[in-house]
This record gives sequence, C-alpha cells and structure tokens, in this order.
Amino acid sequence: MSFSIVHLSDTHFGGKADVALIEAVEALVPDLDPRCIVLSGDVSQRARHGELQAGRGLVRELERTAPVYVVPGNHDVQWWWRPFLPFGAAAKYAKFRSYFGPVLAPTLSFPEAVVAGAVTAHGMAWGSLTPRVRDIAVKGHLPGREVRRVRSVFAGARPEQVRVLVLHHNVLRGELSRRMGLARWRQAQRRIAACGADIVLCGHDHQEQADLLERRIVVSCAGTLSRGSRGGRPPVFNRIIVDEEAIHVEFYRWVVDRRTFRRSDVHAFTRVRRAEAAPVDAA
Ligand SMILES: [Fe+2]
Repeated sequence: MSFSIVHLSDTHFGGKADVALIEAVEALVPDLDPRCIVLSGDVSQRARHGELQAGRGLVRELERTAPVYVVPGNHDVQWWWRPFLPFGAAAKYAKFRSYFGPVLAPTLSFPEAVVAGAVTAHGMAWGSLTPRVRDIAVKGHLPGREVRRVRSVFAGARPEQVRVLVLHHNVLRGELSRRMGLARWRQAQRRIAACGADIVLCGHDHQEQADLLERRIVVSCAGTLSRGSRGGRPPVFNRIIVDEEAIHVEFYRWVVDRRTFRRSDVHAFTRVRRAEAAPVDAA
C-alpha cells in the first residue's frame, strides 16, 4: 500500500503571491503523481474576488493531476461581516464558498485513506480571542462541533484507511515564531488526539514542520507559497507518503537559482496500527 499527498499552503494570492513559486508547483506536481493534493488555507490575502479567482485557477490546474482538497484560512474569511456575532456566520464564508464549493470542509474517500477537514478560521470570534490584541482575526480555534463531525467521519472509515485531518492553523508550536495557531491550543490538541486522526495537515505558520502530536499523530505543517516565508527562508511545500510501515513527510524546498523545488529533508514516522493505538485493557 502506498498513498501520497502533495501538501501546499498559504498561497496568499494578492500582493504577497509569488507567481514563480506557483508556476513551479504547477509544473512539478504532475511528476510527483500524488493521489490527493491539499491546500490548507490562506488561499488569498484579503478574500478579494480576484485573489480567490486566482486560487481557483490553481486548483483547477492541479485537479488535472489529482483531486484537490481546500479549507479556508484566516485570510479567506470575511470576518468583518460578522465580528463577534454568533449568528449569521455563513456570511463570512460566502465568497470562499462561491469559488471552492458549498462545503467548507468536505470529506474525500480513497481505498487507502479518508481525508476530512475542520474549520478553524472563524475571524473575529469569541472562541479565537487571546489576551494579545494582534491575534484578533489571526488566531483560530477548533470548535467541539467540528471535532465531533470529524470523529464520526473517521469512526466510519475502514481499518485499512489512513485518517487524514486538514485544518488551517498550526497545531504545534512554530520553531521560529514560537506561536501556536489555535487559541486554547491544549484543548485543541486533546480534541485532535481524540478524533481518530493518523495525520494532521496544517499551515498558517509560514514555516515547514514535521513532528508528532501525542507521540503518534503525524503533523505536517506546510510552508507558504508566497513572499512571506518566515525568517526569509526558502519556501517549502510538503509531500506525505504513507506505506505499510511508515508515514513519510518530505520537504520540497525552493532552489532560487534553478527556479524550482527540490526534495530536501525527509522525515519518517513508524505507523501506529489502530489496535496498538487503542488503550490496553488492564484485565
Ligand atoms: Fe493563516
């Protein structure tokens, strides 16, 4: 069994977009032959029509290779339509939906995998508040209803299907930023651990990362495909390969003088089988 995902994030179409990176990705992805392509949010810079249209153009190009899975990021949400209002939240996502489909976090099913998503980008919302003023409309949060929905999707998966959760905000602390993407991050981590995911794909931090959550869930955080790479480092996108024994996260790093991405770091995590992951009965 082998299942591969190309994991892209944070294109920030608009002023921060870097078309050289986008065109290089479009050229390279068919050669990587993924079964699925994920774009984990912040497609746009300010949720403008032209930015989202450019994002849709990228998705349509990538769909020539494999199904593309997109979730909204904080930059894709028109939060100013409903700041702190608990009702009418749909208005925040209307423009995003008009380009990427009515379901914000759909489910894709393959013989080897189930890909589900959780919406963490809620704009200026009570659940995303932190004491830091600058976090307003930047931080995300993971509502219980989103986790319950994902848990029921994964509970219905067949044992041989690897369970992939996609969300926008980074669930582990960024190495350079030292920041968590989610407010109430400990609760969010516990919720993710309880939902049955084997792999989490996220972005937002603008620095690539591959690590374990709760010592068993593989987290792939993709860098940005824009001019906003953290620390001025070369942009990175990720590829995840799942085989019988391990989950591999590969970083494809921008090589500026060749104007292409080349595989650089490779991380491998032993697959934890479902029976092994289940709590052992003391009897
Ligand atoms: Fe973001």
